[in-house]
Amino acid sequence: MEPRWPKAYKTKVVEPIRLLNRADRETRLQQAGHNVFNLAAGDVYVDLLTDSGTGAMSQAQWAALVEGDESYAGSASYERFLETVREITGMPHVLPTHQGRAAEHVLFSTLLEPGCIVPSNTHFDTTRANVIAAGGRAVDLPIPEARDPEDLHPFKGNMDVAALQALIAREGAERIPAVIMTITNNTVAGQPVSLANLREVAALARERGIPLFLDAARHAENAFFIREREQGQQHRSIPDIAREVFGLADGCLMSAKKDGLANIGGFLAVHDAALWARCRERLILVEGFPTYGGLAGRDLGAVAVGLREAMGLAYLRDRIGQVAWLARELHERQIPVYRPPGGHAVYVDARGTLPHIPAARFPGQALVCALYVEGGIRAVEVGTVMFGDAAHMDLVRLAVPRRVYAQEHLAWVAETLESIRVRATEVKGLQMTEGEGPLRHFVARFRPVG
Ligand code: F0G
Repeated sequence: MEPRWPKAYKTKVVEPIRLLNRADRETRLQQAGHNVFNLAAGDVYVDLLTDSGTGAMSQAQWAALVEGDESYAGSASYERFLETVREITGMPHVLPTHQGRAAEHVLFSTLLEPGCIVPSNTHFDTTRANVIAAGGRAVDLPIPEARDPEDLHPFKGNMDVAALQALIAREGAERIPAVIMTITNNTVAGQPVSLANLREVAALARERGIPLFLDAARHAENAFFIREREQGQQHRSIPDIAREVFGLADGCLMSAKKDGLANIGGFLAVHDAALWARCRERLILVEGFPTYGGLAGRDLGAVAVGLREAMGLAYLRDRIGQVAWLARELHERQIPVYRPPGGHAVYVDARGTLPHIPAARFPGQALVCALYVEGGIRAVEVGTVMFGDAAHMDLVRLAVPRRVYAQEHLAWVAETLESIRVRATEVKGLQMTEGEGPLRHFVARFRPVG
């Protein structure tokens, strides 16, 4: 007999957690203005706010921390980091950054000009904000299937290539300094992008002389889906697939807080030496000397080890299997979830779960609050609070941190959601009392109404 997905690790260090009683949870939520970003982490029982920087490091990563070389320039930890990034991406010119958005800032403030257009399968929030900050327009071109939470297309993170072609024809290639492919597509429920789609986009971009960049925060999870779902890819190793994917691009941006299995870190890697040299100027200004880029030497060491571990097949099976298990549990308990589940999170359809709450009363945020009151669980709204009236759906993201929670924790999440569903009509909608602008979801405050 063999387990369906054998565990790839066991626990060595433990962090205590506790479940506050319901009355205390209600008080804490009220004090937080019904915004779970304002909760103290110690008051949360199962924290699914994000999978970013929240993973558990391995013993090899902790060893790399101890071995961290804190020299200002040319540290051994940097050498290890550089060698790893070059090997994984095949890109020779690398700049470390303290996290993903710093790499975005360095690249876009160097490459973009006011009035330019940057298409993507879908920009992540900070990517979009950095494009806009550099004077550009961020255009999302997901495939139509992405908008249907029931459509079982295996690669709903794909870009609509015909739409890209039309955009280039309409605006002119000279106005488009970059195409960005986000793998996996976080904003589209963590859906993967197929190798075929990446090849097509790369061919079109190359033909029109537009550089292609990857937002590779979850590239290993994306490679796993390619191996699982795409025809003819089953025999390949994850590093082999990753190498081909990176090989299609001119450069990449990475938040190492996801598939770098680190608590902090990121990088920018490119083929073009001249672009690298220009970015380096900017990096020194805003991050640090090019051999540490805003990180301690020990962090560079931990990232170097984590980048390799994240491509381990046993680890990925366990990780993606956990997320898939949670999605299946919820589906069986008649909780509407975005399907198929993505790599790093399960997205619950809040409009379907709380049909009595109209979009203007923030059903996603109401469900986030109910999850905390009912089960001490912290999740994040991806809907009307985050995107305003432009939101097509009100989703709640249950992001699963890497190597942190056991099946029991996730079973509690499923039980909590079922108990909310059964008494759904008791959940109240919300009115926003504070909060403006594109980043309002971090700072908004609410009060229950109705
Ligand atoms: N790109 C993607 C696809 C991301 O998901 C994130 C962060 C970033 C870039 C920015 O990286 O946080 O290191 O600066 N996503 C986190 C999340 C915050 O919760 O999904 P960062």
